[in-house]
Amino acid sequence: MVQDERSVLIPSEEIQAKVREMGERITEDYKGESILLVGILRGAFVVLADIVREIDLPCEVDFMDLSSYGMGTTSSGVVRILKDLEEDITDRHTLIVEDIIDTGLTLSYLRKTLLTRKPASLEILTLLTKPSRRQVELDVKYTGFEVPDVFVVGYGIDYAGRYRNLPDICAIDSE
Ligand code: IMP
Ligand code: MG
Repeated sequence: MVQDERSVLIPSEEIQAKVREMGERITEDYKGESILLVGILRGAFVVLADIVREIDLPCEVDFMDLSSYGMGTTSSGVVRILKDLEEDITDRHTLIVEDIIDTGLTLSYLRKTLLTRKPASLEILTLLTKPSRRQVELDVKYTGFEVPDVFVVGYGIDYAGRYRNLPDICAIDSE
């Protein structure tokens, strides 16, 4: 079986501490409100599961599945909604939860789309961001960690469907 070389970039304990800290900030920022967390499938399922337990507010969870048109590993900016929300976000405080932002094209498109549904507020949380790869301005309220331009896996994030179960964020070097 082929094994990809990988090295730990962010160990599990650091991720847990960061998720706890972001959960506390959210609890403070939305005090007195209820929020709807929108996890972007599939990568965000782990961070969403962890962060929701660090938020001390009335909160609901929903999911979207998006696919970027075009081929390969880079975003084209045109996004197809494979699975839409079950919930109506009109007048609701809505927080998108993403695993990693690369060019920013996917979330930039999603943000515009969701704003047409008139939420009370719409913010973005991402566990990871690759600032050097950004192609569009994107206002991200909660960012866990900045990572260099390397391919990362683990903690929900995959390479060809694998490695989502790793507790650490790892850099992968596939030959
Ligand atoms: P973008 O911000 O529109 O370029 O795309 C972000 C999406 O690309 C993420 O939600 C991931 O699905 C994928 N992605 C970007 N960088 C990585 C990586 O290093 N590992 C795994 N998936 C990645
Ligand atoms: Mg994704």
